Amino acid sequence: MKISELITEGKKYLHKSEVNLLLSYLLNYDTLELYLHLEEAVDEKIIEKYYEMIKELKNNKPIQYVLGNVNFYGIPFYINENVLIPRFETEELVENTLKYIDKLFPDKNIKVIDLGCGSGNIGITLKKKNDKLNVTCLDISLSALEVTKANALKTNTSISIIEGDMLENINDKFDVIISNPPYISEDEEIEDIVKNNEPHLALYAPNHGLYFYDKILRSCSKNLNNTFLIAFEIGMTQKDEVISLAKKYLFDVKIDCLKDLSGKDRMIFIYKDNI
Ligand SMILES: C[S@@+](CC[C@H](N)C(=O)[O-])C[C@H]1O[C@@H](n2cnc3c(N)ncnc32)[C@H](O)[C@@H]1O
Repeated sequence: MKISELITEGKKYLHKSEVNLLLSYLLNYDTLELYLHLEEAVDEKIIEKYYEMIKELKNNKPIQYVLGNVNFYGIPFYINENVLIPRFETEELVENTLKYIDKLFPDKNIKVIDLGCGSGNIGITLKKKNDKLNVTCLDISLSALEVTKANALKTNTSISIIEGDMLENINDKFDVIISNPPYISEDEEIEDIVKNNEPHLALYAPNHGLYFYDKILRSCSKNLNNTFLIAFEIGMTQKDEVISLAKKYLFDVKIDCLKDLSGKDRMIFIYKDNI
């Protein structure tokens, strides 16, 4: 079959943009190249894979899992069903954290821990964008850590990767703690495509989704240097509760809440600058 025929065939089941994505991925062409090679014959094995992928998409599997990769902050990350699909909002968390780091730690080599690292998208991107950072990525899920490892290799990034239950059993001190923990309340209704495909370990948290903020903030003092930054992604209704937890467990800190691009409260930065 020719590329033009595969496009026609795919469009019977999928949106044109999905067809373009699948074929570009399978043939290693960008969309323009795809349309410049319409008459090219395609290998049988690739056609088979194409139909498999169409079937997965028809069965409501997210395209990121079907393709096995996602672009995060301009970096291609490998993903599978053992990790959360990295979100745009988390790119904003990374971008703002890099700004806070520049302000708080202008000329120091600093130690960062990414709690609940999943695919490693946060920790790896921070290290890629600021080579002065010494980054540790931690998750409780061994299968997620396999993905982190694969991404560290794929992106040629030097980070430490450890298994752990947040900060329990961690004795080292850090300058920055960053986390996008599971924060969806167990009784919250979420989209089926998320609920049916993404790992529940990465999505849900007890105590109205606040469990991990409490867990991290309650015990983090032992792991923080004098000047520190804690950067959290939060659910859009959790601002007040997370700020209360920060004030409950940490003395004399500054706290900022930033909105994401769609205007929702999305990031909390808790810091002590000792200035
Ligand atoms: C919302 S996902 C975030 C993944 C990734 N950091 C991102 O931003 O796309 C939360 C992650 O926390 C991990 N996790 C859940 N419970 C944990 C725990 N007790 N200790 C460490 N990690 C945990 C999950 O396995 C999942 O990878």
